[in-house]
Amino acid sequence: MTTNELRQKYLNFFKSKGHAIIPSASLIPENDPSVLFSTAGMHPLVPYLMGEKHPAGTTLASVQKCVRTGDIDEVGDNTHGTFFEMLGNWSLGDYFKKESIEMSFEFLTKELNIPIEKLAFTVFEGDDDADKDVESAEFWKSHGVLSDRIQALNKEENWWPAGGKNPGPQGPDTEIFYWASDEPAPEKFDPEDDTWIEIWNNVFMQFNKTDKGYEPLKQKNVDTGMGLERTVAVLNGIDDLYQIDIYVPIIKKIEEITGLKYSDKKREFRIVADHIRSAVMIMGDRNGIAPSNLDQGYIVRRLIRRAVRFGKILGIDKAFTHEVAEVVLVQMSAVYDDVKENHDNVLNQLKAEEEKFAKTLEKGLKEFEKMSSDNKISGAEAFILFSTYGFPLEMTQELAAEKGVTIDEVEFEKEMKKHQEASKKGSEQKFKGGLADSGEETARLHTATHLLQAALRKVLGDHVAQKGSNITTERLRFDFTHDEKLTDEQKQEVEKLVNEWIKADYEVNCEELSFDEAKNKGAIGLFEDKYGDQVKVYSIDEISCEMCGGPHAKRTGELGHFKIKKEKASSAGVRRIKAVLE
Ligand code: ALA
Repeated sequence: MTTNELRQKYLNFFKSKGHAIIPSASLIPENDPSVLFSTAGMHPLVPYLMGEKHPAGTTLASVQKCVRTGDIDEVGDNTHGTFFEMLGNWSLGDYFKKESIEMSFEFLTKELNIPIEKLAFTVFEGDDDADKDVESAEFWKSHGVLSDRIQALNKEENWWPAGGKNPGPQGPDTEIFYWASDEPAPEKFDPEDDTWIEIWNNVFMQFNKTDKGYEPLKQKNVDTGMGLERTVAVLNGIDDLYQIDIYVPIIKKIEEITGLKYSDKKREFRIVADHIRSAVMIMGDRNGIAPSNLDQGYIVRRLIRRAVRFGKILGIDKAFTHEVAEVVLVQMSAVYDDVKENHDNVLNQLKAEEEKFAKTLEKGLKEFEKMSSDNKISGAEAFILFSTYGFPLEMTQELAAEKGVTIDEVEFEKEMKKHQEASKKGSEQKFKGGLADSGEETARLHTATHLLQAALRKVLGDHVAQKGSNITTERLRFDFTHDEKLTDEQKQEVEKLVNEWIKADYEVNCEELSFDEAKNKGAIGLFEDKYGDQVKVYSIDEISCEMCGGPHAKRTGELGHFKIKKEKASSAGVRRIKAVLE
C-alpha cells in the first residue's frame, strides 16, 4: 500500500458514505495567531464544530497538510517527522459514535483488509467532567472485538486535545491500535507495549471548554485523524518511517548526492529528508512563508539551516537542498495545486537561504569551537552566533549538547530583547508622521496598488502574484512574485499604464460576493478558500478585479500621478516596489 493509494482509498470510502471531500486548508492558519501551523485536520473546521453551517454539508472528509514543530529536535529517529498528512472524516452534528465506529471498522477490516486480531482499542474511562464511554466499547464489541482488546484510559490518553485543559471544542476519544509485528498479537491488549501503534483517533467532540468549565456544544460532532505516513508504514510492516514509498526517492537522492548509504548514516539522512520536505511544504503553501527571523519564517529558516548543517556532516560541500527539494516538489505537486504553482519560488528561496547560510556556517562552527573551549557558551556568545553567523539558538543548543557544554539561555534572551528593542525604536521612528492622516490618502494608494498589480501582470506576465502589501499615507509598498530585476523600460511601461488608467477616470466598483462567485468572476487576491464567506470584490473596468477589504478611492481620477520610487529584491523570487502618488 502506497501513500497515494491510502489517500485515495480513504477519500473514496468516505465519499461512498456520503461525505463531501474538502481540499486541504492552508498549512498557515488564517486569523489564528495562537498556532503557527495547522497541526490537525480539525483546525480549519473549528467554527463549524462550534455550530456554524458548513456549505459543503454536515459530513466531510479531507487530507490535511500538517506541521508539528514540537518535534523538530526529535527528528532523526525512525518515527518522528515534522510535516505530515492527516486523513480525517467529520460529522458536524450528523452521525455520532455508532456510525463513526462502524465506518472505521469497515474501512480497516474491509478496505484495508486488516484482520481483527491485529486491532485493539482504547476508550475514555470517565471522570467528574464526563461519563465513562461505555457506548464506544459496546459498539466495538458489536463488531466482534473481544473485551480484552479494549482498554479504558484517563483524560491524558483518551481525550482530545490531550488532558482537556485548553479552551475550545473537544471531547473523549476512542483510539485504534495496530499490532506492528509478524508475531501473533497477545490476546490481552497492553497500551504500554509499543508494538501496538496508534493509527486512528475518533474524537467525539461534544464539549466546549470555557472559563466556566466544559459546556455542551450546540451539536455533537465527530472529528477523526489518521496519520497518512505512519499508517502506510505499519500496513507495510516497515518500522522506519523513512523507508515508506514517499521517502524512498528522497533518501535515494541524498545517497546520490553524498555517495553514502542511508543504512550507514540514518539519523543525518532522516534530518535532511524531513527538514527539506517540511520547508518545501511551508514555502510552497498557498500562503507560502519565506525563511526569516519571525514566527513561521523562523521555523523554515531553522529547518533549512539544520538540513544544511547535517548535509555538511554528510560531507556535502556544494548547494544541494534544491536537488532534494525537486524530488519533493514532483511528488507533492501531484497532490497539492499550491505546491505546483509555487515550484520556482520554493527553489529560489531555498537556494538563497542555503547560499546565505553556507557562507557563514563554516566560520560559525570554528567560532563555536573557540567559544566553547571553556566548556560554556555565554548569552552574548550565543547571540553573536545568531546575529553574525546566522545560527538559530536551537542550533547552538544542539551543538552545545553534542559537545557537552552549557549555554546561558537567559542571558541570550536578554541580548535578543535588547537587539529587538533597538530595531523596534528604529522602525517606530520611521513610522512617525506616517500615521497622522490616513483616510483618503491610503484609500488612493490602495487603489493605486490594484492598478499597479494589473499593470505588472500586463507587462511581466500572469505569474505576477501579490506576496505582500503595505501602505502608509506616503507610499505604497508591493511585493510580488517575479524572478528578475525590472528593466527601466518595464518600469516606464508599468508607470505609463497606471497613469493612463488614472487619466481615464474609471469608476472603482465594489460588490460583496460569496467566495465562489468571486472566484468564478476571476477575482485575484491573497485569500484562503473559505466556504460560505462573503468577500468584497473591487473591480476597475476590465483592468482589475481583486478580493480586498478596501478602502478604495471612488474613481481612478482621484489618484493624481503615479510614480515608482524603488524596485528591488525582497526575498528570493519576490520583488518589491515602492511607489507614490504625486
Ligand atoms: N483531531 C484529532 C487528532 O489530531 C483527530 O488526533
